[in-house]
Amino acid sequence: MFHALEVLFLRIYMLIFKAVTAILPFKWPRTFEGVDSSLALVRHMASEGHKSVLVVTDAVLVKLGVLDKMKAEMDKCGISYVIYDGVEPNPTIAQIEAGHRMLEQAGAKAILAVGGGSPIDAAKMIGACAKNKKPVVAMTGLFRVWRGMLPLYAVPTTAGTGSECTIAAVVTDPVAKRKLPAMDLQLMPTAAALDGALMTGLPAHITAATGMDALTHAVEAYISKNAMAKTDEKAIEAVKLIMTHLDTAVTNGSDLNARQQMARASHVAGIAFTQAGVGYVHAIAHKFGALYHTPHGLANAIVMPHVLDYSLPSCAPRLAQLARLTQIGPVGGSDEDLARAFIQRIRDMNAKFGIPTRLDKLRSEDIPAIAQSAIAEARFTYAVPRYMSHPVAEKLIAQMLPA
Ligand SMILES: NC(=O)c1ccc[n+]([C@@H]2O[C@H](COP(=O)([O-])OP(=O)(O)OC[C@H]3O[C@@H](n4cnc5c(N)ncnc54)[C@H](O)[C@@H]3O)[C@@H](O)[C@H]2O)c1
Ligand SMILES: [Fe+2]
Repeated sequence: MFHALEVLFLRIYMLIFKAVTAILPFKWPRTFEGVDSSLALVRHMASEGHKSVLVVTDAVLVKLGVLDKMKAEMDKCGISYVIYDGVEPNPTIAQIEAGHRMLEQAGAKAILAVGGGSPIDAAKMIGACAKNKKPVVAMTGLFRVWRGMLPLYAVPTTAGTGSECTIAAVVTDPVAKRKLPAMDLQLMPTAAALDGALMTGLPAHITAATGMDALTHAVEAYISKNAMAKTDEKAIEAVKLIMTHLDTAVTNGSDLNARQQMARASHVAGIAFTQAGVGYVHAIAHKFGALYHTPHGLANAIVMPHVLDYSLPSCAPRLAQLARLTQIGPVGGSDEDLARAFIQRIRDMNAKFGIPTRLDKLRSEDIPAIAQSAIAEARFTYAVPRYMSHPVAEKLIAQMLPA
């Protein structure tokens, strides 16, 4: 059993953390929403006086032509730009450094990030490198981006991470096999565009995995001990939107309404977890990403039912409330029945989307280190409803070993 005194200490620490978070001056990005809102964002950049911009993206998006309309709009607005498309899923320190070099060569004074969480996170750290002149790793952790970052305009092309409205950026250190989250108020983008039209070409399996990432943000924020009325409102909006539209976005990717609603879901889930935090699902998923390159959303989707099963005794009323609000489970059922029905719905969604219940690459000899890293990541960062001891974490992770 987790030591009762340690739990008490962590609960008190988290109460202080919550009080501080409640008064932190978050500067939410100005947000443009709807089809072609990415072009309105470009016009906004021009109106803010930006003439020289580094575009941070990935090679797939360039090839698919996702940036074409924005490039034409920048030409029209007289913005000169250089494109850095070297970001890959789970961006590394070296990719961020390469982007920073390109920024310096171009003399760019602002950044336009176009992509999923990987390009947006990389762009945040490139913008932070430009201002802080510190190694990337030295800016990871809590509040270590002292001198801020360049103005960052973000256009998400996945509906998952919510990075366009979070104060986080996740960096991968491939040598140490670690994922290092940087969290700092200064990592909040200046403005963002939620443009569902850019997401219609997102393959079904990535739509599913990234959508489950957004669901994880909303659920972990809602069951967090640091949840507040304002984060509950956003988390509930996200869960309702995801339960209504994710299936359509996966099965009929060209459905613009489903894409637009998922873009909003991911965004409001981002606002919720920025203040309430996430939990063990993310802590374990980060380690899967670092060790096995498991895509972030996929890792969360696999881990989520296990962590929720474990957390249920400490958050059944909260999970039951999510079930009620999304008409899941028996009408008038007990909190425990409804909470179980909600978790079962997540398992059903995973099954329908072809998301496995186990992680092929997971090796039993890695489990102690994964458990250790997850517990360490959560300890002073996430106000989880139920703490895990090391043996419990190992047992939970072992349930995901390949059969
Ligand atoms: N900053 C935060 O708050 C935060 C939160 C959660 C996760 N993350 C991080 O974000 C990263 C994951 O981001 P992600 O899940 O959005 O995926 P991603 O950015 O890694 O992209 C995944 C794949 O989807 C492709 N893709 C993206 N948009 C597309 C489109 N519109 N059409 C076709 N293909 C497209 C990309 O080319 C890539 O191959 C991880 O590193 C994760 O740790 C950050
Ligand atoms: Fe996430």
